[in-house]
Amino acid sequence: MKHWAFTIALLLWAAASAWAQAPGAAPQAVQTDIPSIYKTLAGYFPVGAAIDPADLSGPHEQMLTMHFDGITSTNEMKWSSIEPAQGRFEFGPADRGVELALSHKMRVRGHTLVYATGQQTPSYAFGDGTNSAANQAIVIANIREHIQSEVQHFGDKVYAWDVVNEPFDPSQADCLAHGPFYQVLGKSYIDVAFQAAREYAPAGTKLFINDYSTNEPNRLGCLLKVVGDLRARGIPIDGVGHQMHNAINYPSVPAMENAIETVRSQFPGLDQQITELDVSVYNGGDTKSNYGRSIPASVLAEQGWLYKSTFDLFRRLKGKISAVTLWGIADDDTWLDRFPVVRTEYPLPFDRQLQAKPAYWGIVDETRLPGYGLKFSAAAAKTQSDTRTITVTATNGDAGPAYASQIKSIGLRPVSAEPRCAAAVSAPASFPVSLGDIPTSGTAAVSIAVTLRGCDPHTRFAFTAAWSSATYETGTFSTTLDIDGDSGEPRR
Ligand code: G3I
Repeated sequence: MKHWAFTIALLLWAAASAWAQAPGAAPQAVQTDIPSIYKTLAGYFPVGAAIDPADLSGPHEQMLTMHFDGITSTNEMKWSSIEPAQGRFEFGPADRGVELALSHKMRVRGHTLVYATGQQTPSYAFGDGTNSAANQAIVIANIREHIQSEVQHFGDKVYAWDVVNEPFDPSQADCLAHGPFYQVLGKSYIDVAFQAAREYAPAGTKLFINDYSTNEPNRLGCLLKVVGDLRARGIPIDGVGHQMHNAINYPSVPAMENAIETVRSQFPGLDQQITELDVSVYNGGDTKSNYGRSIPASVLAEQGWLYKSTFDLFRRLKGKISAVTLWGIADDDTWLDRFPVVRTEYPLPFDRQLQAKPAYWGIVDETRLPGYGLKFSAAAAKTQSDTRTITVTATNGDAGPAYASQIKSIGLRPVSAEPRCAAAVSAPASFPVSLGDIPTSGTAAVSIAVTLRGCDPHTRFAFTAAWSSATYETGTFSTTLDIDGDSGEPRR
């Protein structure tokens, strides 16, 4: 290759790599003419966001203070950040978040005093790692000293602490993750942490145990077992944090509800919070897919409707959950870009340019979701003496396309009691039947062929059609159809 051609190729490659590695296009102006998330939900519960140091200035700070009335430091209050070497404290980055929050009258959750898995924990915390009596005394002292220093530093600026993070492991007989603290102290490391937090934090500070996938029956069972054991032994625990790192297909809303209601019925009076909500656009367990920078609008709409269902649930749980915290603000800064693989994620209410996504509208105003206002109608036409065609028409509202719309199933039964009258669907052969992507204010229709047997000429039928759009927008359309003419085999 000639020297100049090589230089141009090199420059092109450098430009392409710089683009690929760029954290994202510069944020556009913050939208100040849209509703504040926390103000919209003020009648239900406070809404917080996990923050990084980059959220404390510029447009991110503006987003944070406009939409949220609480913060959690993503990493800055973890052991390795606060006390990276024993007795050497680095409170600065966490303090800066706390000061910003308090100057805006936002509440601060502390996360986390003891990380059960040993993540983001310096190795000195575990002593020599053994369960010798001498090392047990060292590790108990380490936990107590770290917790004392941290909770006393923040005092009443922090209203709730995740005292122990991610302690559950349903694959273990005792339901506990056998991490480095457990290796030394067994289950008593949890007691030591909660007792120290109660001893040193100001009275009234809420002490939480915090874990993920609490909707899964085995993890939920472990939560109940471990929390029940702590309470039975008088260990001072005030609340359960459900992280809720969700995915577009998982968990179901009823499964989330079951987790909260089950904990509530077992432990009335125990506080509960959603502590780390985000919604991956990839299915749970899918480590291959990557939309890159071109995510289909249909996926964002689906995520928006899922956010709506999720927040509908949270609103129904008013009084049963005391806060909801999102694990970030906008898609330009999410841990999911690096987990479970490096790829481009879209789990939060705002996009990479800090603009509102359908996920945001799903939280604050469902009427702005694409496909909102989808309506159905149906009419029957006689084809032969004993056959009819029912045309179901979907008419979309003006909020945006209704993606992947479909009729999931239908029901057709005579309104009056006609024992011999029956209607059988001869086409389509199976349901669901697709209506496709219906444009904004557009329509789409499907035809259903029906064969009648033993019906009066003027039998009226109750017709129902269960439908969905963007997966999570669902409904059942009902009407009464006049099915005119002979039905082939007149009822005597
Ligand atoms: O700060 C360093 C930076 O200097 C370095 O260049 C870079 C290279 O990888 O790493 C940076 O540290 C990363 C840190 O996040 C800050 O971005 C760590 O590698 C990375 O491991 C760390 O990940 C955090 C993760 O916890 C670690 O456990 C995520 O940001 C944080 O969102 C995540 O949060 C956890 C909650 O604490 C508990 N629940 C689950 C949740 C998600 O995993």
